[in-house]
Amino acid sequence: MTPSSQALHLKALGARILNEANDLKRTPEALAAELGIESSLVHRVIEGRADLTSALDLLHAMTNKYPISLADIWLDEDDTVDGVKIMSAAETAGSSRVFERRDSHGGKSPYYDYRDTAMSRLAPFKPEWIEELRVVSNDDPDNPDVAYNNGHFLHQTTFFIGPVNFYWDLQGKRHCAEMNTGDSNYITPFVPHSFTSRDPNNLGLIIAITYAGQVGRARRELSAADVDALNAEAGDLRGVNPFLHRLDRHLNAESLSPEELRARLVDAGHNEQSFTEILAGRKEPTYLEIALVADALAVRPQDLVAANMTRGEEVVVKRRDIDLGRNFPDNNNPAYRLVELARTKHQPKLKGFDVTVNGEEGSPFQHSLHEYVYNYGDDEVHLHWHGGHSKTLAPGDSAYIRPMIEHGFARKAKSEAGKLVMIRVPGQLTDDVFDEFAAFEISGRDRVARETRRWF
Ligand SMILES: [Fe+2]
Repeated sequence: MTPSSQALHLKALGARILNEANDLKRTPEALAAELGIESSLVHRVIEGRADLTSALDLLHAMTNKYPISLADIWLDEDDTVDGVKIMSAAETAGSSRVFERRDSHGGKSPYYDYRDTAMSRLAPFKPEWIEELRVVSNDDPDNPDVAYNNGHFLHQTTFFIGPVNFYWDLQGKRHCAEMNTGDSNYITPFVPHSFTSRDPNNLGLIIAITYAGQVGRARRELSAADVDALNAEAGDLRGVNPFLHRLDRHLNAESLSPEELRARLVDAGHNEQSFTEILAGRKEPTYLEIALVADALAVRPQDLVAANMTRGEEVVVKRRDIDLGRNFPDNNNPAYRLVELARTKHQPKLKGFDVTVNGEEGSPFQHSLHEYVYNYGDDEVHLHWHGGHSKTLAPGDSAYIRPMIEHGFARKAKSEAGKLVMIRVPGQLTDDVFDEFAAFEISGRDRVARETRRWF
């Protein structure tokens, strides 16, 4: 927290309050009169010239008086330096917490050493450095020395360093994979899992990135709804026809019966027999047929497309040695060697890389995802970013980089290539958000950023 970030925060909160007052069709004078607050104080808060306590008092008075949620109007203070936050290896070491789990002797003994790495309150993830303190001598998934958790609400992707066993439990069947440096995984929420070391003289380490996806951000509305109703509305991606669940949600939203939809399609001159079969779930629609249904509902074809999930896809294991990687930006200028970590089509914007930093200049990256890097090599790497900033990432240091911030990495002159784990996860800048934004009047778009300051 710096004086300038505090000033920016107060300005952003003031703009947000003005924005909300506009939506409520209240002028600052009307706000002041209705809330019993002095008009000059309301103006000072809106202009970002009052202190945080005054701004909070005004926000609370507004949420008491009007049907608005504090969660919708509160903005967190930016804890980054122009979009980047770094944590040193020493700070990481200082956050060590050892957790015990039951063992085969019936008692409890050390299992994990958990340490924080770079985290920001603006980021959707909490990346952790976890040393596996329990050592096993086999790959038996039912080993009584292995303590499974109950799975968790967050998605997880893991980067492995050293000899680590990865265990997971799918519908009561347990699995074990022997992992080594550079291997990676993806774990779907609520799949129980565990990690152990294989070598007492070389304890294994994982960099575990857990993150809340779209469901995490919808938790307020999800928790207010009936779980059976939610289940029925969602269906199961492992079911035979996720298209029908998408269609059902659109029919519910439109309060339209399948018969009425079929009649619309027939009226538009389409094949009755074919659409009868499709709407009854007896025939898989082609993309063209999906587009015709979408037209009849005044929605986009992609609104009716969902990808099936097959059993077993809940956990992905990726081996480092099956992939040589690729040069970035290209073979003529191989600033980085990128090896893709575990991918799943069900989290399309989860992009992990094992990065070898070859260049001494650092070719730029820029994208709409939250990025995390951890230096797992033996050499320093330079991180430079937007605004002319640059910092050295020593071995064990980590960094968070906000979406849309241009940044790059360079190896130190005359030293070996740098080694980074890089994990990108989506925040709220989803394709739906970009498509909606892309439809806005171009002349008004800069007001979106100006009035909230959180978008870009
Ligand atoms: Fe986990």
